[in-house]
This record gives sequence, C-alpha cells and structure tokens, in this order.
Amino acid sequence: MSVRFVVVTDTHYHPTALRDWGAPKMLTRSREVLAASVPAINAVEADFIIHGGDLVCGGGSFDLSTIDYELSIQDVAAEYAKLRAPIHYVPGNHDSDAQTGSFERLFETFPIPRLLDVVDVAPGVRLALANIYHAAPLIGRWSDELDQALRRADAAAREDHCALLLVLHEWILPNLVRPGDDDDVGCIEGASVLRDTLIDCTSVVATFSGHRHVNRLRLWRDIVLVDTACLIGHPLGFREIVLEEDGFLQSHFHVLDCPDLLEASRYRSSREANERYEGEELDRNGVLLAPRLQRIWAWRQRQS
Ligand SMILES: [Fe+2]
Ligand SMILES: [Fe+2]
Repeated sequence: MSVRFVVVTDTHYHPTALRDWGAPKMLTRSREVLAASVPAINAVEADFIIHGGDLVCGGGSFDLSTIDYELSIQDVAAEYAKLRAPIHYVPGNHDSDAQTGSFERLFETFPIPRLLDVVDVAPGVRLALANIYHAAPLIGRWSDELDQALRRADAAAREDHCALLLVLHEWILPNLVRPGDDDDVGCIEGASVLRDTLIDCTSVVATFSGHRHVNRLRLWRDIVLVDTACLIGHPLGFREIVLEEDGFLQSHFHVLDCPDLLEASRYRSSREANERYEGEELDRNGVLLAPRLQRIWAWRQRQS
C-alpha cells in the first residue's frame, strides 16, 4: 500500500493587485498562477490534496478591500472546484478580511477547521488540520486548546493504529538563528510546547507547514518536517508526497510550466535569496525514512 498526495501552500491569490509586493511573490499574475495550478495538480492523480494556508491576500499587508477579499475567495473556490482529488485546508495569516480580521467568509466557502479537524484520508492515514489563528487573527499560536485537541487526536489514532499528519500554517523548527535572536525565531508562538507535544504524540509521523515560502525537508528526531515554498513566485511549485509501504516518505517538487513568470520572479531577488526559497535538492526531491510511519504500517501489515 502507498499513499500519494499533493501539498500546495501560500498561493496568495489577489485579483486586482497593482504591484507584485515582496519577492518572490508575483501578485499581478495571480490569475495565471491559479489557472495553471489546477491542471498541474490534477496531473499528479493524488489521493488527496493539502493546502497549507494563505490562499488569498487578506490579513493586513496587501491593501485588499473587503470586496476584493470576497472576490478572491469566490475565484479560488471556483477554480479549486475543478480539482479531481479532495482538498483539505488550514488557514494562513493572510486568509482573514483585512478590515475586520474575520475568517467567517472563508469558513462559509471552504472546510476550514475552527480549531483542529481530524479527517481520515486513506487507510491508516489521518490529517490533523490546525487553525493556529483561532484565538488571534494574525498571530499564529500553538494554544492550550490546540495542544489538548492534538493530544486527543493522537490518543484516538494510536488506538486505531493510524498515522497522523499534522498540518499547520507556520513553522515548528527554526532555521537561521543569529546571535541575539529568540531560539524559535520565525516559528509559531509556542513552538517549544508543540515540539514537546509532538515527542509525546507518537502517532504524528510528519508535519506540513508553509508561511515562510521556503522549501525544507527534515527528519527531526523521529518526525518528518515538511516546509513548502509558495506557489505565487519562485520556485513556483508544489509537492507530490508518497508514503511508501515500507515507511519511506518521498517528495517530488513540481514546478508550474510558466517559464517567463518564474524567470520574472527569480529576477527580483539575489541568487542566494532564490536558493533559500527553493532549498537544496534534497529539500525538494528527498526521500526520508519516516520511522513512526514504518512502525505503524508494519503493525497494520502484520494484522492483515
Ligand atoms: Fe504566505
Ligand atoms: Fe503566512
């Protein structure tokens, strides 16, 4: 048995952008990216799709009016209705109405978790979809409520011998920590609490985040951490993930077939910055043993 899925994040659709905003984003070409992404994702023939948040450009940075926010949501929903595999979402910090901080229109249109939703997506595989903005619209926080909900989901998954994939918008593990920085710079508030919880929650085999628009694939302790770059600029792609029967997790990074758009995005940043967004080869196209997955699926195979 193997399970194949797509991870796409930080698509940042903006229907009326007059400029591209911060690199690598190419917001003036949002429509083109949205239109190109759906057939590219469908071509993977995945069992399911995960969206890591920042579907649109609300939340405070992009001068998005309420009318354009609502239009954004309608456009994205209409295009994603053409996806052939079920898609599961978590909210990002740019998914609220910039005027009110409300996510209500998003909740009305997409199946967005209020706190933590658990969804069976394949035999022996469940998603734990976390809303890290449930208490404050713009601050991603691993709250006590989320912590307790994940612990309950883990207890149920262990009982059922299922693997849990935790999906949340912001990073769990820091990367560049400079002298004077907080140890968890760039991470979700409460990252150290979440990491302790992940150590305890042994059904969580992998986590999936976006937000920082950087590709990274790491085995941290016995958990695979997958951070994925944006789909609105360089490196302009999404991941295909395969969970293999023997417990390996394989990533293949697909780049949208929009070469001039990719080139225009790349032109906006230094080579070093672009290399940071895209990550190393193994951050895009790596294969890692997922030890917890291997243990859970070995047990299931012995029972079948
Ligand atoms: Fe983003
Ligand atoms: Fe974000």
